[in-house]
Amino acid sequence: MEKLLRHLLLAIGKNRGAARLMRRYGMQFFGARRFVAGEKLDDAIAAVRKLNQEGKEVTIDHLGEYARNIGEAKRAVSYCLQALEAMHTAGLQSNLSLKLTSLGLDLDQEQCERHMRAILDSALHLNRFVRIDMEDYAHCQQTVDIYKRLKADYEHVGIVLQAYLYRTTDDLRRLGAGGANIRLVKGAYKESEAVAYAKKTDVDASFETLVQNHLENGGYAAIATHDEALIHRLLEWIRSRNIARDRFEFQMLYGIRADLQDSLAGQGYKVRVYVPFGEDWFGYFMRRLAERPANVWFVLRNWWRK
Ligand code: FDA
Repeated sequence: MEKLLRHLLLAIGKNRGAARLMRRYGMQFFGARRFVAGEKLDDAIAAVRKLNQEGKEVTIDHLGEYARNIGEAKRAVSYCLQALEAMHTAGLQSNLSLKLTSLGLDLDQEQCERHMRAILDSALHLNRFVRIDMEDYAHCQQTVDIYKRLKADYEHVGIVLQAYLYRTTDDLRRLGAGGANIRLVKGAYKESEAVAYAKKTDVDASFETLVQNHLENGGYAAIATHDEALIHRLLEWIRSRNIARDRFEFQMLYGIRADLQDSLAGQGYKVRVYVPFGEDWFGYFMRRLAERPANVWFVLRNWWRK
């Protein structure tokens, strides 16, 4: 039943009609504000400022994926550039995350790469790191290819690898060399068993092994999970290997396990919060509901109270 609900939510999340309909009601109505800082850049900047004051760093994400024409992709580039400028002007501890399909990956791969280079040039100038999120399996190889080309020219770019994919062990071996900064996540999309572990216990075990492999190979690990037991196991392992605190950071999503974020930051670990903003919040919101079907009851309760 839970699996079915998860698949349903992920399928609805990709539906443009549903997104249009939901947007008309607004994120407040559905309780999406719990996971999304707001529709405007100013909302995100205010959220970053507050998180910085609480001792946490941030990566900001202008929501958007699957650009349908070059105009949309160019607008996404412009939002990224504005976000970089705004973070810099406000003197915030924050970098940028983005999705290549928002920059036109499905339309023209070369132009998408040029868009990335424009963003990286600006980020270099403003001394900010840029992380390429990993999307569904259909875009994985292209994302890895573009990342490799960019990484040859830019130091301040990173990628995300998903523990549920079988291919990630090899990807990590290839991409993680030379102290590369890799964000490891469990994976948020609906994938077939031909390419991804179906059982949660297998995904969790894969995540743990990947983080350990990456740290053992000298990489910088952005450990992106809210799984408290897993975090504690990893911290124990990290201590047993005397791995320095500047070799890893914890990353969590805005609005999820703020208590755990605070506790880790309070113990002196670097914690970075992923702060999404923008009008295209629907797909992101559906993925958050799918991860934890209990969130659906939270949304329904929200409606009931209106
Ligand atoms: P798990 O699903 O096992 O959850 C552990 C605990 O966390 C739960 O018991 C609950 O307490 C809490 N929790 C988790 N999800 C929750 C939710 N939605 N609402 C409330 N509580 C929740 N994925 C991807 O495919 N590509 C990407 O680029 C990224 N990027 C990314 C960045 C960052 C900073 C994070 C933290 C995550 C991602 N993800 C991602 C999402 C990731 O793949 C995964 O879907 C989520 O992190 C949920 O899995 P957990 O590791 O938290 O564990």
